[in-house]
Amino acid sequence: MGFGVVTLGQFIIEKQADFPYAKGELSRLLRDIAIAAKIVNREINKAGLVDMIGHVGTINIQGEKQKKLDVYADQQFIAALTSGGECCIIATEEEEEIIHIDSPVSINAKYIVCIDPMDGSSNTDVNVAVGTVFSIYRRKSSEGRATIDDVLQKGTEQVAAGYIIYGSSTMLVYTTGKGVNGFTLDPSIGEFCLSHPEMKIPETGITYSINEGNYVHFPEGVKKYIKYCQVEDESSERPYTSRYIGSMVGDIHRSLINGGIYIYPTTSRSPEGKLRLLYECNPMAFIIEQAGGKASTGFERILEIQPTEVHQRVPIFIGSIKMVEKAEELMLHYTKPL
Ligand code: AHG
Ligand code: MN
Ligand code: MN
Ligand code: MN
Repeated sequence: MGFGVVTLGQFIIEKQADFPYAKGELSRLLRDIAIAAKIVNREINKAGLVDMIGHVGTINIQGEKQKKLDVYADQQFIAALTSGGECCIIATEEEEEIIHIDSPVSINAKYIVCIDPMDGSSNTDVNVAVGTVFSIYRRKSSEGRATIDDVLQKGTEQVAAGYIIYGSSTMLVYTTGKGVNGFTLDPSIGEFCLSHPEMKIPETGITYSINEGNYVHFPEGVKKYIKYCQVEDESSERPYTSRYIGSMVGDIHRSLINGGIYIYPTTSRSPEGKLRLLYECNPMAFIIEQAGGKASTGFERILEIQPTEVHQRVPIFIGSIKMVEKAEELMLHYTKPL
């Protein structure tokens, strides 16, 4: 190993030993993602200079006005995954249909990737942290063209999941089911270097993240939890601090480092919740559970949900285990399940 620095590539190879059966495809897939992340990072860092600010003028399947960085990031990750040859289907927030990669190399590839190429895109023009979230499954079908059934797998079936946070520093955080490790991009050498080995989320924290603008329409159990966070209690750190930046990746990364809870419940505008199961909730739930935290809909474990559609939305309570459990207790007491 070099001068104490462990790059993502070296780490993946070292950890390769954990996967005797894998012949390096997963490693190459993770590296394909990291390459696209570096390219997206470069454009984010100079967005104002390279016409990457503002909207494209189109509406995506989510009904959202697409930002230039939404489309750019989507294109870069699709290109990297397509040329990498390790992935046979991509499900991305920015495309209505799943993308079959039918090249001779990819059509029989082992892996499916679900991705949110640009998370928190309401922040792209105002220099607030944004992210990318990805989830990797092994296809269930043995040969030929993979199908939607290979995509609609429970979160417990994930082979790997991760996110990139383009913040004050750019980090890639991922898990393959053997703990969570964080890598910081060193732009001077263009490498993600191990900076946060074996990440663990504190059992409790002092921040809660929720868009209180939707308070009026929150379920009663959520209203009770918010009040619980705000009431002084000599035996704990309450009142907690409210922190909500509009990027789930940023709010959950903070909770992973310091402890905390992120909640996106059902609202009048999003009666099923806003966050998408396949490429936001499942990957973040896998990572947070691997770090010792918890992720539920308020009633059921996120990773156990059987997906029925690519872009389906679910409510999410995710973060420090004691904080999520308290919120679940209040949801159970005051709100009936969906
Ligand atoms: P995306 O930018 O990928 O569409 O996701 C945005 C999500 C999540 O990142 C963030 O926490 C949440 O939407 C913010 O929603 P509100 O503006 O409704 O609070
Ligand atoms: Mn979006
Ligand atoms: Mn998102
Ligand atoms: Mn997005």
